[in-house]
Amino acid sequence: MDVISLDARAREILRGNDRGGYTVPTAGLYPYQWNWDSMFAAWGFATFDLDRAWAEVETLFAGQWANGMVPHILFHRPDPGYFPGPEVWGTDALAPIPSSGISQPPVAASFVRRMWEQDRARPEAAQLYDKLVDWHRWFMTWRCKDGAIFVTHPWESGRDNAPDWDTAMAAIDPVGVGPYTRRDTAHVDASMRPTKNDYDRYIWLVERGRRLGWDEAAMADTAPFRVACPGLTFITLGASHDLLDLGQALGRDTSEIADWIETLSAGAATLWNPELSAYDARDLGSNRLTGTLSNASYLAWFGGLGMDGLLGNLADRLASLPYPVPSLDPSDPRFDSMRYWRGPTWGMMNALIAIGLSKAGHGDVAETLRRATAQLIAEHGFAEYFDPYIGTPAGGGTFTWTAAIWLAWASPSAKGGNHGID
Ligand code: SER
Repeated sequence: MDVISLDARAREILRGNDRGGYTVPTAGLYPYQWNWDSMFAAWGFATFDLDRAWAEVETLFAGQWANGMVPHILFHRPDPGYFPGPEVWGTDALAPIPSSGISQPPVAASFVRRMWEQDRARPEAAQLYDKLVDWHRWFMTWRCKDGAIFVTHPWESGRDNAPDWDTAMAAIDPVGVGPYTRRDTAHVDASMRPTKNDYDRYIWLVERGRRLGWDEAAMADTAPFRVACPGLTFITLGASHDLLDLGQALGRDTSEIADWIETLSAGAATLWNPELSAYDARDLGSNRLTGTLSNASYLAWFGGLGMDGLLGNLADRLASLPYPVPSLDPSDPRFDSMRYWRGPTWGMMNALIAIGLSKAGHGDVAETLRRATAQLIAEHGFAEYFDPYIGTPAGGGTFTWTAAIWLAWASPSAKGGNHGID
């Protein structure tokens, strides 16, 4: 397919996944509005329909809780094809729109800033600003330890079955869970999805949150699962930089955001693993690094950071694999080229890594990554994720965020290959 046809196909996928004010990641497997998927969708829509892009963000923030949290899923309409649905989460007393009880990486401010830059006369960014600040404050209040952002459920990281969580997950005895029926494996092959061991613990953690009424203070008490996540730390940090710039342009007092940036910039050092020459996750239960080199490690530049050794590490990855960046270092014995976050390449992670590289002055490396991602999508389609060696499409097809990053970043037609990137 040529570039014009690929661009048209990507727009068709976004339109096809549009459910009216929000976009599903893909029909069937993910039938609701997912938080960070939705913000990538907005970035994609912004390349051809800015009104629709802003509507996506506004719909997500209509689901914000009074404590500032923006849920990871909004269950706009019942759908029996997904588990766990709203009845399992039990958030009715707290959620303005039926929702999950946990959040997801707050990439929204970064895309809101880009959309605002496209047309500064529009009112939406100013209207959303306080909501974005409230959400970031929720992360800093309830998910920050020693300056790094931690997850209380693997789903909160967006990288569900990443090996970063293995040790902390193994320490959970999912006693009393279930019975339940998974729906994901009816849509895609089980070999591309998390295992039953993982799912038992995912559901056990949801049931615990529900039992505690999703009260953050109560859940923090003897929390069974807390892992500091490089992805969440760097995304919160990068998005805070964008939020601060936006706030200053809008004439707001941004001193609180500046404090967050200082805290997170210093705290990220607690995730540096010299043995890997990369940022790692840290299990707060044992206070140990997890020994995991993931694609989230390379989001450091997105957060405005970087360390000697990290660029060379990424350059090795780019040179040695046809379709980088793998979600796990292929030399890791836990690597599995088709299983979700344990090996496959994710186009949207590549886009965030490249935004960071460009910001840090490594535009040449960002361009190498863009070309590799464009080739992957052009040859293998708009899948959820891909085998990093042979490009085999995996997970859901006609996927929103893959179409979105194609339009906004990977396509040769995307503003000289650099659309929306500083
Ligand atoms: N990604 C998870 C799922 O598979 C939850 O957010 O449904």
